[in-house]
Amino acid sequence: MARVRREARIVTRDAAPTPHIAHSAAVGAVSPRDASPAPVPKLELRGIAKTFRTDHGDVEALAPCDLAVREGELVMVVGPSGCGKSTLMSIAAGLEAPTSGEVRVDGRPAGPAGPQRTVVFQRFALFPSETVEGNIAFGLTVAGVARAEREARVAEQLELMGLARFRRAWPHELSGGMQQRVAIARALAVRPEILLMDEPFGALDAQTRTVLQGEISRLRRVMNYTVLFITHSVEEAVYLGDRVVVMSSRPGRIRRDIAIPHDEPWRGLEIEDASMREEFIRYKREIWELIRTEIVRE
Ligand SMILES: Nc1ncnc2c1ncn2[C@@H]1O[C@H](COP(=O)(O)OP(=O)(O)OP(=O)(O)O)[C@@H](O)[C@H]1O
Ligand SMILES: [Mg+2]
Repeated sequence: MARVRREARIVTRDAAPTPHIAHSAAVGAVSPRDASPAPVPKLELRGIAKTFRTDHGDVEALAPCDLAVREGELVMVVGPSGCGKSTLMSIAAGLEAPTSGEVRVDGRPAGPAGPQRTVVFQRFALFPSETVEGNIAFGLTVAGVARAEREARVAEQLELMGLARFRRAWPHELSGGMQQRVAIARALAVRPEILLMDEPFGALDAQTRTVLQGEISRLRRVMNYTVLFITHSVEEAVYLGDRVVVMSSRPGRIRRDIAIPHDEPWRGLEIEDASMREEFIRYKREIWELIRTEIVRE
C-alpha cells in the first residue's frame, strides 16, 4: 500500500508541444494538487529553437522548446551529451540568439544579457590578476555599486561560501573547488534574479562536488533564487531539483518534466544518505531510463 502511494507521487509529464501559454502554465505547476492559478513564470522559454549554420552545413541543435521556471524554483536539466543543453542555457542568458522563439522574464521579453540573469559556467573563469575579493566584487564594480554596499556584499559572500580566510588570496593559490566557489560567489554577489548554471561542478572531484552540492542546497533554503541548472549527474539533479527536465537527443527537445516534491523523506539529508533511500533511487532509475532510451535512439 505504502509503495503504491509513493509511486503515485512521482509526477511526470510528457512535454508534448502544445500552445505556448497553456503549456507554460502546466509545466510551471509543481503538482496537479496545486489548484492555485499559476503565476507568471520568472523565466520562460517559448518555442526556443536553434540551428547553427556552419561551413559543413546546418546543425539543428534545438527543436522548439518550452520551459517555464517559477520564482524561487530550481529546475535541473539533464540529457545526452550534445543534445543542446548549453545552447539552451546561452539562449536563456541572452548570450546567444535563438533561431526562433522568445525568452521572457516576468512575463516580458527578456532583452539582451544583463545582471538580472547571471551564468556560472563549467570552466570557472576567474580573473587571475584579481584577488578572491576582487573577483567577487567584479560585477558590482561594473554595475557601479557604491563602495560600502560592495564591501558588505563581498563580505556576505565570503562568509556564505566559507572563503573569508582566503579573501586576499590569488586564484592560482586556490584549489579547483575553491575557485568554483569564488565563481559562484561572484555570480551571487550581484543578487541576480535568475541564476543559470551550466554544469558548474562538472570539472570537480567527487568530494568537492558533494560539499558544493550541500552548499547549493543550503543556500537555497537561505535565499530564494530562481535557478536553471544543467548537470550530467542524475543524482545531483534529483537531490537539488524541484523539477528535473529530461531532454531528448539532438535536436534537443523537452522530453519529460518531473516534479520532485519538497516533502520527500530524504530532503534535508546529505546527498550520500539521500541517494540510498528507496524513494530517491526510484526517481534516479526513471530519469536514467529516459536518458538511456534517448542515447540508444541516437
Ligand atoms: N557555436 C556553434 N556552432 C556550431 N555548432 C554548435 C555551436 N554550439 C553548439 N553547436 C552544436 O550544437 C549541438 C548542441 O551543443 P551543446 O553544446 O548545446 O550541447 P550540450 O547538450 O551542452 O552537450 P554537453 O552535454 O556535451 O555539454 C552540438 O551538436 C554542437 O556541435
Ligand atoms: Mg554543454
